[in-house]
Amino acid sequence: MAEVSQEVKEFMKSSIVTDYTKDIQQYNLGPLWEAIPEIMNHTPKPHAEAYLWSDELIKKKMGEAAQIFTPERGGERRAIYFQNPGLTYRKPWGWASTTQTIYAAVQMLQPGEKAPSHRHSQSALRFISEGTGAYTIVQGERIFMEEGDFLITPKNLWHGHEHVGTEPMLWMDALDIPTIYSIGGTFFEPYADGLQQPDIPDNFTEKRYRGGMVRPVGDDKYTVAPLANYKWDRTVEGIKGLMEFDPNPHHGFAVEYINPSTGKSANPTLGTRMQHLPKDFHTKALRHTHSTVYHIHKGSGYSVINGVRFDWKKGDYFVVPNWAWYEHVASEDSYLFSVNDIPIMDRFELEQEQAYDSNNGHQIITGEFKAAFR
Ligand SMILES: [Fe+2]
Repeated sequence: MAEVSQEVKEFMKSSIVTDYTKDIQQYNLGPLWEAIPEIMNHTPKPHAEAYLWSDELIKKKMGEAAQIFTPERGGERRAIYFQNPGLTYRKPWGWASTTQTIYAAVQMLQPGEKAPSHRHSQSALRFISEGTGAYTIVQGERIFMEEGDFLITPKNLWHGHEHVGTEPMLWMDALDIPTIYSIGGTFFEPYADGLQQPDIPDNFTEKRYRGGMVRPVGDDKYTVAPLANYKWDRTVEGIKGLMEFDPNPHHGFAVEYINPSTGKSANPTLGTRMQHLPKDFHTKALRHTHSTVYHIHKGSGYSVINGVRFDWKKGDYFVVPNWAWYEHVASEDSYLFSVNDIPIMDRFELEQEQAYDSNNGHQIITGEFKAAFR
C-alpha cells in the first residue's frame, strides 16, 4: 500500500470514520479500508505455525487409542491428526488442519481389524511407516502395503483396509480436507456392505507399471490413479541414480511421485516427495508459497525454520508453513517423506520460490523448538 499522510492517518482515527465503521457492521457490511492491511498481505502470512510432533508422543497416544477405539467403534478409522496450533480457531475441529490446506494424520490398524470402505471428495494418500501384512482395497484392487510404500486414493475412489498380518501397522495419511472444507466441496459416502470385495487381480496397477520407465500401451489418456502403489524399492532405485551426480543444493537427492499418465503429481491436489540427505548434508535455505508436512522415514538431524531449530529423528512429523525460510541438516543418512500443496498453488498460479542469499544460504539460529514427549 502507498504511504499515507499524517493528515489521512488522523482522519482514519477520527470518530467520523470509527463510528461509521462500527455502524455498517451491524448490517453485515464490512469496511474494506480497515480490512485490506490485514487480509491482503504483501507476502503470505499463514496462520499455520512451524511445529513438530515426536515419534514418542505419537506412539504413546496411538497405543492408548488402540485400547479404546476399533475402526468399527470410532469413526471408521483409528487416526490421530496433527492439529496445527495456529489453526485451532477454525471451527469445527480446527478443520483438521495441519497446514492451511493439508490434513496429515497417523493411522493404526491392528492384526485382524477391518476399516470399512467409503469414498469422499477429498483426495487421500498414505505413506507406510511401520509394519506389513495389511492391504488396502481401492476400486476393487487389493494392494498389499509394506514399509516405505506410498499409496494414493484420489477423490471419489472407494477404499477400505484389512489387516491379515501379525504386527500392528502404522501409516501417515494426508488429505486435502481443509481445502475441500473451505470451498464447500465435501461429499462422503459409506460403502453399503462394509469392506468392498476384490474384483480385479491383487496389486494390479503396481504390476502393470513395474517397468518404471515404460507404461502399458493404451494408458496415454489421463486417468486419476493408473498406479496406486509406489513401492519403496523402486523409489530408492530412483534416488540411487541421482546419487551418481551432484546433489541439489536445496533438496539433496529428492524425487517426486508422479501420475504416469500425465507426469504431474501422483495425487491431483497434493504433491509428494522422497528426499535423501546423506550424513552431514546441509541444504541451503529456501522459502516458497506452498506449505509442507514432513515425516522422517529414516535417520536424524534438524531443520531450521524461520531461525528456530527443530531436531528430528525417525518417526517424527513437522510442518514448514507457507513462505517460511527453512533448511535441513542430516546428522546421519536420512530419508524424509513430504507432502505439499504445490498442485493447489499451481492451480491458482501462485507458486513462487526464493533462495536465501546471505550467510552462504544458511540462517542464523535464534531459538530451539521443544517437542512434547521427547
Ligand atoms: Fe477415506
